[in-house]
Formats: sequence, structure tokens, C-alpha cells
Amino acid sequence: MRLRRPQIIVKNKEQLEGIRESGKRNIEILDTVAEKIQEGMTTEDIDHIVYETTQKLGGIPAPLNYEGFPKSVCTSVNSQVCHGIPSKDVILKSGDIINVDVSTIYKDYFSDSSRMFCIGKVSDEARKLVEVTKEAVYEGLKQVYPGNRFGTMGNAVHQYAKQYGYTVVRQIGGHGVGLEFHEEPYVSFVSKAGTGAIFEPGMVFTIEPMVNQGTDEIYIDGNNDWTVYTMDEKLSAQWEIMVAVTENGYEVMAY
Ligand code: MF3
Ligand code: CO
Repeated sequence: MRLRRPQIIVKNKEQLEGIRESGKRNIEILDTVAEKIQEGMTTEDIDHIVYETTQKLGGIPAPLNYEGFPKSVCTSVNSQVCHGIPSKDVILKSGDIINVDVSTIYKDYFSDSSRMFCIGKVSDEARKLVEVTKEAVYEGLKQVYPGNRFGTMGNAVHQYAKQYGYTVVRQIGGHGVGLEFHEEPYVSFVSKAGTGAIFEPGMVFTIEPMVNQGTDEIYIDGNNDWTVYTMDEKLSAQWEIMVAVTENGYEVMAY
């Protein structure tokens, strides 16, 4: 049996400041990826950028060796839904869409956020999926304020994506974050309005829906036990922000 410290769902001021500082570094790492990412690069090159930048900023990449994950960042291309493993064999080509999911430990505080990047000339269809997925995250964000519920937020994300004919992945969602990488509660983006835990000031969690062009069905790559794909091989997109609940709404701590 593993003894774990009881989770602190509501963070105090000092903890919030620590998570905020970690989040700033996570943002800077993603900004650096945004500057450098381009056609012809491998996803392993992205891994190096993330590792080097994290080091320079005094942090540790949270994914590295996390439950056996072998790299510093997740890079998920096209029909990969999440947890893509950087590789020298995956070369970014014009038309690709890629999620780069960065998580940082800084002075023992965890941060987590991800962005999509369009490589070269991307089809209108793919670009639309990427844009709508980002908009869906910010629709959810509008529902974050004390007294409202997680289920209402997740439902807002789902309804927004649905309007465009997209589906939202059901088996994987967001999570509390800050003192650990993945904390309670699990955050669904296919939830029912009016259900789930009530938002309280000091809670910190991620909004990170995976939005699919086709079916919401997914599978895990049997070769590495990590990378998740869409069952129909159609495209999937994801954006992730790390949000704190404040006295009157929210604070985005990483994006
Ligand atoms: N960053 C992912 C998330 O948003 C978790 C990745 S776990 C890893 O929750 F081991 F693959 F890094
Ligand atoms: Co996350």
C-alpha cells in the first residue's frame, strides 16, 4: 500500500503564489515552442526545446519519468488524441496539426497547459477544428465562479463543440493540479449541467477537452501503452488551460 498525503483541493495564498510562478514558466516554455516550431522539425526536437527551456527557467519537466513516461513533453499529431511520445521518426510536415502539452514542476509546484500548432498549409477543416476547440475551452471558462459546478462548466464545453458537429472524448479529462501533477477532482467535458463539485475560491484545475472531428471512440497504442488515437483515424485537437477559482470568478494561471 502506498500512503499518500490527503489532497488539498482548496489552496492557500502561498500555494496559489507557488502555482502561479510555476504557471508563468509553463507559459514561457510554450511561448518558446511557438517561436521555434516549424515544418521539417521532429517531435524529438520539440522535446529538446522543452527540456532545455525548463532547465533554464529552474524547473523540472513533470512528464519525464512520470509513471514511466519517457520524455519531457507530450506531442500529439493529427489523429493522436493525447500522450504522443516525442520521436526522431515523427517529422512535422505541412498540413499537420499538433498538440504540445507542457507540464512543469517549479519549487515543488505543478503547472500544466497545452496548445495546438498548425504546420505549414493546413486544410480549412483542420484549422476549424483547432479554432473551435480553443473557443470551447473559453466557453467553459466563463462558467468558472464560486457556487457554480464542474458539471455545468464541462457541459458548456461539450455543447459548444457539438454545435460544429464535433465529439468530445469521454474517457479522459482534466484534473486538479498544483501540489501534485494530477489531483482530485477528475474533470469531465461531457458532463451534465448542475452536477459535480461546487467551485470554491482556491481550487486549481485544468480545462483540457479533446475534441474529435469524427467518433469520440479512442484506443491506446499497444506498443507504448501511452499514445491515444481516434478509432476512426480522423483528427483530434486539444487546448489546455490551468485555472484558479477566485472570489468572483477565475484566474488563468497557464495557457
Ligand atoms: N499533461 C497531461 C495532462 O494534461 C498528462 C500527461 S502524463 C504524461 O494531464 F506522463 F504523459 F506526461
Ligand atoms: Co492536464
